[in-house]
Amino acid sequence: MGKTTIAGTLARALSRSGHDVLALDCDANPMLGISLGLGAERTEELVSAREGLESGDTPHQPTAAGMEETFGTDAPDGVRLVVAARVEQVEPGCMCCGVSPHQLLRDMEGESRMVVGDLEAGTGTLMRMPQGGANLALVITQPTAKAMQVARHALEAAKQRAIPAVLIANRVRTDADVELIRTTMGPQVGIPMAILAVPEDAAVAQADQDGLAPADVAPESPAVLAVQRLGQSVSEFAGAR
Ligand SMILES: Nc1ncnc2c1ncn2[C@@H]1O[C@H](COP(=O)(O)OP(=O)(O)OP(=O)(O)O)[C@@H](O)[C@H]1O
Ligand SMILES: [Mg+2]
Repeated sequence: MGKTTIAGTLARALSRSGHDVLALDCDANPMLGISLGLGAERTEELVSAREGLESGDTPHQPTAAGMEETFGTDAPDGVRLVVAARVEQVEPGCMCCGVSPHQLLRDMEGESRMVVGDLEAGTGTLMRMPQGGANLALVITQPTAKAMQVARHALEAAKQRAIPAVLIANRVRTDADVELIRTTMGPQVGIPMAILAVPEDAAVAQADQDGLAPADVAPESPAVLAVQRLGQSVSEFAGAR
């Protein structure tokens, strides 16, 4: 649906506009590095470090700083990428397992950094978050019945946790697509929300196919420009808090 693509592009846009950005990959299949423009090889190295936790080759990192160091790397535009995907064997008290990113977020509280998390599909990670566990949820949907159903659950989960949410209509082709999402989802969710549209964009799909970042190979393409505007909205939201 575009979570990883949008998260990577957004993290870079926010960093370029002056924010100190940590991109947090919380997906069991961590691919955020690709969308950030880190390349397939370096992205795979980070995956191996996580896998090393299970095999015992990588020592557990009980602090946010240790985790950032061991499972992180510098990505383009000054973004710091950290892979916090779930591992199967959870040790008690070990936050590096990334069972819920809120553990890491809690440890980072008070820092001025902006964290852009790429969560797993569905609502699992959000459901494990505590009240107010994030400042903003970007719920990404597409104009299809299935995607809208999942997004509705995600918006509901955010609302229950007092996390403000913005709905992003990705891969839209026409105004009618956005309107469909607005009319289908607005009343059911029952919260006044902004809907931001990101158009279907062949250059973005091509970048992904090539394992490259849209921000590098198609910086002026309509979807990348739309995500930049999203970044401005996120910036304003953060500034107003
Ligand atoms: N606006 C867009 N225009 C064209 N293609 C897009 C757009 N957004 C995403 N895609 C394509 O859709 C596919 C899925 O995108 P992406 O990997 O970002 O989704 P995801 O939500 O992270 O998926 P997953 O749930 O598997 O993690 C990719 O091939 C990507 O290039
Ligand atoms: Mg993804």
